[in-house]
Amino acid sequence: MRIDKLLSELGICTRREAAKVAKAGGIHVDGTPERDASRHIDPDKSQLTFMGREVTYQKYTYVMLNKPEGYVSATDDKSLPYVTELLPDELRRRELFPVGRLDRDTVGLMILTNNGQLAHSLLSPKHHVKKEYRFTSAEPLDKGAETDFERGITLADGYECKPAELYLDETRRAGRIVLTEGKYHQIKRMIASRSNRVTSLERISFGGILLDSALSRGEWRYLTKEEIEALESQG
Ligand code: URA
Repeated sequence: MRIDKLLSELGICTRREAAKVAKAGGIHVDGTPERDASRHIDPDKSQLTFMGREVTYQKYTYVMLNKPEGYVSATDDKSLPYVTELLPDELRRRELFPVGRLDRDTVGLMILTNNGQLAHSLLSPKHHVKKEYRFTSAEPLDKGAETDFERGITLADGYECKPAELYLDETRRAGRIVLTEGKYHQIKRMIASRSNRVTSLERISFGGILLDSALSRGEWRYLTKEEIEALESQG
């Protein structure tokens, strides 16, 4: 793979910048300065450094973000804040996008990647990837809610939801819902079908990956190797 292509794919610099830095002696391959950024290297075999920093090549990037309220699940928006604005420039250059959507007022776990194939497959209804949410509602949920959710409830437009797990605390106004699908406003519509209203919603896990409690709203981190493997095994 060409050095300049590799560096630009990783979001480290543009190809033109790579050419300049190489000429100035800022790129080393196996400890030797490489003045030609168009040279091909095997990233698995050669050690590449850019301005003294070791470069590790990965084809795809995966991060988790703790989405704050008020952000749309998009990579661009003319008038509203959008989630990829919360990532540093280097990551934004890698063209990450959110795996699935959360409403603007929903907070919590969002996975972003540039692996389109895996993202598509994780969202496919065929794969039943579990998503877990914490919610509060305006009123206590009625007695039969847990059983009805388990059987699959019908929304106002007639859509029959897949079986979902509902766990409520003693107030019955707060709890967790586990879904294996992701229809538009799904939880809000599920709760609305009980003549009730969601007052807060947070995603706390996706495909078994838990929202890292060390991340404040708006913060992100790379997924670990184990987390990436867990996603790959479900996609
Ligand atoms: N269900 C909703 O209603 N909203 C979300 O953001 C996610 C699930």
